[in-house]
Amino acid sequence: MIKSLTIRQPDDWHLHLRDGAALKTVLPFTAHQFGRAIVMPNLTPAITTLDAAIAYRDRILAALPPAVDFKPLMTAYLTNGTDPDVIAEGFRDGVFVAAKLYPAHATTNSAAGVTDIRNIDRVLELMADIGMPLLVHGEVTDPAVDIFDREAVFIDTVLIPLTERLPTLRIVFEHATTEHAVQFVREAGAHIGATITPHHLLLNRNAMFQGGIRPHHYCLPIVKREHHRLALVEAATSGDPHFFLGTDSAPHAVSAKETACGCAGIFNAPTAMELYAEVFDAANALDRLEAFASLHGPRFYGLPVNERTITLEHSSQIVPNAVALPDGGEIRPFRAGETLAWRLVA
Ligand code: NCD
Ligand code: ZN
Repeated sequence: MIKSLTIRQPDDWHLHLRDGAALKTVLPFTAHQFGRAIVMPNLTPAITTLDAAIAYRDRILAALPPAVDFKPLMTAYLTNGTDPDVIAEGFRDGVFVAAKLYPAHATTNSAAGVTDIRNIDRVLELMADIGMPLLVHGEVTDPAVDIFDREAVFIDTVLIPLTERLPTLRIVFEHATTEHAVQFVREAGAHIGATITPHHLLLNRNAMFQGGIRPHHYCLPIVKREHHRLALVEAATSGDPHFFLGTDSAPHAVSAKETACGCAGIFNAPTAMELYAEVFDAANALDRLEAFASLHGPRFYGLPVNERTITLEHSSQIVPNAVALPDGGEIRPFRAGETLAWRLVA
């Protein structure tokens, strides 16, 4: 049995850091584990301009604990009215690493998102020309489509036609949750990748209803059937460079989750690497964790790999029950109160 594993420091290629007091509360967890993170732009108001992204990046850097080396990679939030030149200028200046497509009303803070992908044809054409990655929340929003089918329908009706129109556009299929997504990405060229979250590797949809309704297992895209989870585990642990780490850690106050209409989002940042280690260990693939967590993402984004290392030890830890917010509220971490088999030691 492997007792300890040292790998290059990983990066989180899909993360929600929020803003203000919540940012100060959640950022240290991510900065402790990861060297860089792709920061999602779904604030209110959304990050749609260069100035907003620079100001948000400055607030993130100011919220870092002293002497912690962490690099936030900023993204632009696409709307029906996005000016292609703003996106291109931000990419050229090195401020926007990518742009995020939220279909309008697909998820938290997506009301300002895109109502029809054809509305942003010119933006996407320009992004394909300059090699700027498009990050997609891959779900249709038609309420007539079953929530468990929204990812597969998005792939068939939006994503495949998009890749036919713009075959060179670089795309990350964010938080893949189905075997359809795995198959699509695996068969695509190296310009298309996908992130996979720890919770989609660990949960199937029964987890949302185990003995009662479990709001802390509710996220979007929603967790799916067991065969989809198994396809994700196979993809993540296969060594295929199309697939890389993205936690989609999405903190919400307990009061916003344990309510009649609870928010979508799972806060896994405090133990993200331990959770991935558990998955890779169970699949007998710990020797492939470094590639998934630390090598495939930089390769896709054309960035250098991190020079530092982290060490994970096979020794138990108990996940805290809650993380306190300065306003008196709290956030419930994924697996709160449970014992994990792995621990990040340095
Ligand atoms: C995210 C959030 O809360 O910002 N929620 C989630 O369930 N993942 C938004 C998103 O990525 O869909
Ligand atoms: Zn997300």
